[in-house]
Amino acid sequence: MPLRRRAIGPAVAAAILLVAGCRDDPTPRPPGADVGDPAAGADAIEAYGCGACHRIPGIRRADSLVAPPLEGWGHRTFIAGTLANDLENLVRWIRDPDSVEPGTAMPDLGVTDADARDIAAYLLSLR
Ligand code: HEC
Repeated sequence: MPLRRRAIGPAVAAAILLVAGCRDDPTPRPPGADVGDPAAGADAIEAYGCGACHRIPGIRRADSLVAPPLEGWGHRTFIAGTLANDLENLVRWIRDPDSVEPGTAMPDLGVTDADARDIAAYLLSLR
């Protein structure tokens, strides 16, 4: 069946190319999927004063119990009991907590997207 053979050849070649492509040339991340830099995040947490309300390991003077302590944050399942704890949701929470939980006592501190990504990377690294 010559027709079939012709059809299978290119399909196999395409599959091999796809597999090879995955290995050699990882798909570039879409814009906005920047994971952030934990070390810069630690500096940003200090600069924004998150420690005025939260106890956060590794951050100077971050020992307040006004708000929930953030120890072991990388193990937490939920943010403020509502959002799944992943990078994108954490960035959203840090930048605009009221959009997640209207009336929350957590203030909007005017955190930039880049700083929120760094902060989230730091918090998620806490084990
Ligand atoms: C004025 C006090 C205050 C400051 C400053 C503050 N937070 Fe909060 N934060 C809160 C409160 C209150 C909550 C609990 C909110 C809720 O559950 O509705 C909270 C909740 C959180 C949570 C979720 C905690 C949990 O147990 O689910 C995270 C993460 C968080 N804050 C990160 C930050 C970061 C990062 C900063 C600095 C950019 C910051 N907070 C600054 C008061 C504060």
